[in-house]
Amino acid sequence: VFADEHAARALPGLLAALGAARCRPLEGGEELKQLGRIGELLRWLSETGAERGDPVVAFGGGTVGDAAGFVAAVYLRGVPFVQVPTTWLAQVDSALGGKVGVNLPGAKNAVGAFWPPVAVIADVAALRHLPRSAAKDGMVESLKAALIGDPALWTLIEERGEAALGEDEAARYAIVERAARVKLTIADRDPTETGERRQLNLGHTLGHALEVESSFRLPHGEAVALGLRAVANLAAMRGAERGLAERIEALLDALAFPRHRTFQAEAVRRALLTDKKRSRGRLRWLLPVEVGRVQEVDDVSEHEVDGMLRHVSAP
Ligand SMILES: NC(=O)c1ccc[n+]([C@@H]2O[C@H](COP(=O)([O-])OP(=O)(O)OC[C@H]3O[C@@H](n4cnc5c(N)ncnc54)[C@H](O)[C@@H]3O)[C@@H](O)[C@H]2O)c1
Ligand SMILES: [Zn+2]
Repeated sequence: VFADEHAARALPGLLAALGAARCRPLEGGEELKQLGRIGELLRWLSETGAERGDPVVAFGGGTVGDAAGFVAAVYLRGVPFVQVPTTWLAQVDSALGGKVGVNLPGAKNAVGAFWPPVAVIADVAALRHLPRSAAKDGMVESLKAALIGDPALWTLIEERGEAALGEDEAARYAIVERAARVKLTIADRDPTETGERRQLNLGHTLGHALEVESSFRLPHGEAVALGLRAVANLAAMRGAERGLAERIEALLDALAFPRHRTFQAEAVRRALLTDKKRSRGRLRWLLPVEVGRVQEVDDVSEHEVDGMLRHVSAP
């Protein structure tokens, strides 16, 4: 078991119940997702005598899941992998769908594998003491899932999203459960991301470029929220369902996601140009069409990109 220390404190019972003979505490966070750290984790497995049938368990957020999953994919050419996601984002997104991997300097998730877990054990009780920023990262992915494929989830977040970010564990459970289903359904239909699964990038094209521009100081949830505002605005210009953009912006406002940010537009455009999800030089964008349906387009003009940047840029 590779266990995030915060997660171990949040869920001591579950960690104990795993009955793991060997547990290696870790500090979660992006620093874990480096090849040097992977070498360290692999050596630990080897030194403790882990064998081919022994499962590797990731007990923590997305960073522990991605790193431990990568270790599981390559140790002895692959051992069984179990995910115990303990952050909101990991429970609705990163622990599902089988992608694992680490970063290269300057290139996030550039090295990795598809290594689906044999089991995912998620307990929403883990989210009780999550820092607010981490909770909001998970909330945005849930909202994204709703826009892609679950109108009832959207209504649920409109009605109970604020409560779910507070003390209402039942609301949190209901949202996490539905959002996880959206991701699972799409990932199951397109496990290696050749088509439909790209929809999960909704809000992430501009969101990721804003993160790069900020040298990853901008929290992921805020970046994606700005990305969602921008594509909602573009979709409205291109004739999406009336009122959709207003509805998206109103919900993001209600959940206290910022409307604007100060950034260097040129650096954001550069980051967009190096986006690894380009195809034949063209950047793909996902636009919300109605709640529960998105459309992929690759004909967004520079003028339209400028419009999106203006839309989220601080006045
Ligand atoms: N593999 C995929 O398909 C996929 C999809 C989306 C994101 N990701 C990756 O996920 C990562 C982000 O994951 P994350 O947001 O979970 O970040 P994280 O793993 O860094 O966790 C965020 C923080 O919460 C702490 N924490 C974990 N569990 C806790 C708990 N129960 N209570 C209190 N604190 C707790 C961690 O120690 C950490 O400080 C990124 O590296 C991203 O690239 C992967
Ligand atoms: Zn995301």
